[in-house]
Amino acid sequence: MLTDPKEKNDDVVVDLSLRPKYLDDFTGQEKVKSNLDISIKAARKREETIEHILFHGPSGLGKTTLAYLIANEMDKNIKITSGPAIEKVGDLGAILTNMEEGDVLFIDEIHRLNKLIEEVLYPAMEDYALDIIVGKGPSARTIRLDLPKFTLIGATTRIDLISSPLLNRFGIAHRLDYYNDDEIEKIITRSSKIFNVEIDLHGAKKIARSSRKTPRIANRLLKRVRDFAQIKGDGIINEKIVDETFEHLEIDCYGLERADRKILEIIIEKFNSGPVGVSTLAASLSEQEDTIEYVYEPYLLQLGFLIRTPRGRKATKLAYEHLGIEWPEDEQGSLL
Ligand SMILES: Nc1ncnc2c1ncn2[C@@H]1O[C@H](COP(=O)(O)OP(=O)(O)OP(=O)(O)O)[C@@H](O)[C@H]1O
Ligand SMILES: [Mg+2]
Repeated sequence: MLTDPKEKNDDVVVDLSLRPKYLDDFTGQEKVKSNLDISIKAARKREETIEHILFHGPSGLGKTTLAYLIANEMDKNIKITSGPAIEKVGDLGAILTNMEEGDVLFIDEIHRLNKLIEEVLYPAMEDYALDIIVGKGPSARTIRLDLPKFTLIGATTRIDLISSPLLNRFGIAHRLDYYNDDEIEKIITRSSKIFNVEIDLHGAKKIARSSRKTPRIANRLLKRVRDFAQIKGDGIINEKIVDETFEHLEIDCYGLERADRKILEIIIEKFNSGPVGVSTLAASLSEQEDTIEYVYEPYLLQLGFLIRTPRGRKATKLAYEHLGIEWPEDEQGSLL
């Protein structure tokens, strides 16, 4: 799906050029930004290492970008790894002992760290120490190695899956939230400049509105529209080219694709507008429950097309209007 906010192979190369490298180039998330600005400036002034930071929130909103950006602003190296990539205690040990004072260790998908490794991370985060066991059986003993003072930056889309001992060891935790359309428009305009493609205001606005409030999707749509503009038009992105591209891709003005609309249609038509439980919904769509809950639903909820009730999901009047289905009389008195 083009509007799935998760990173795809195609994104990786583009990300390198589009990622803002300084706080000043990073659009939106004003509160997070001003807090980070203070942390960075204070750490630089005291010539200290920045505290461990956790970024959480939906995919594609800038967690990885901020990790790189912080290392860059601090003028330090960054080492990148992820929860599932650290398989053995030795893997983590090797990474930690190779760091230099003030370096950043970025652990993506930190909720997927294995328990044993998490426990090695606790003293590393708290005391900058690595406890290693040498020998086996009764003669085994622990040696404590000093580590350079480093900053751990963790990122997760699932803060609910992070254990509280790990959570407590982060000095700073920031939640990234969806962007508003003006912010996305700014990001699109900036990316167009980097791509060296001309875009008019209406074109940028239109792409922004369909970007599901997510910078990664905005950049991805921009790339598709740019291709379209080069092949079908004169290379300039305007409203007409955007409309044509979206029609071709079956993306509507809210950035919904066929699969999203299908969810709403099923709730409305098959389940009489709900409430319907996620598992039932997943079964009728032949999708995984998690996919429904973490890929499709957040944006539909955000748009106000769906609401969660204790008995399941319900489609709202807005969803009916968007799909052009008549809102049933008997729902009009309900609390939606
Ligand atoms: N505030 C922003 N300003 C400009 N571009 C941004 C911003 N936030 C994100 N981007 C762009 O969106 C892309 C995706 O961001 P990023 O990889 O940081 O997301 P993420 O939160 O780490 O997602 P995931 O949870 O899937 O790893 C980046 O390539 C970057 O170019
Ligand atoms: Mg990321």
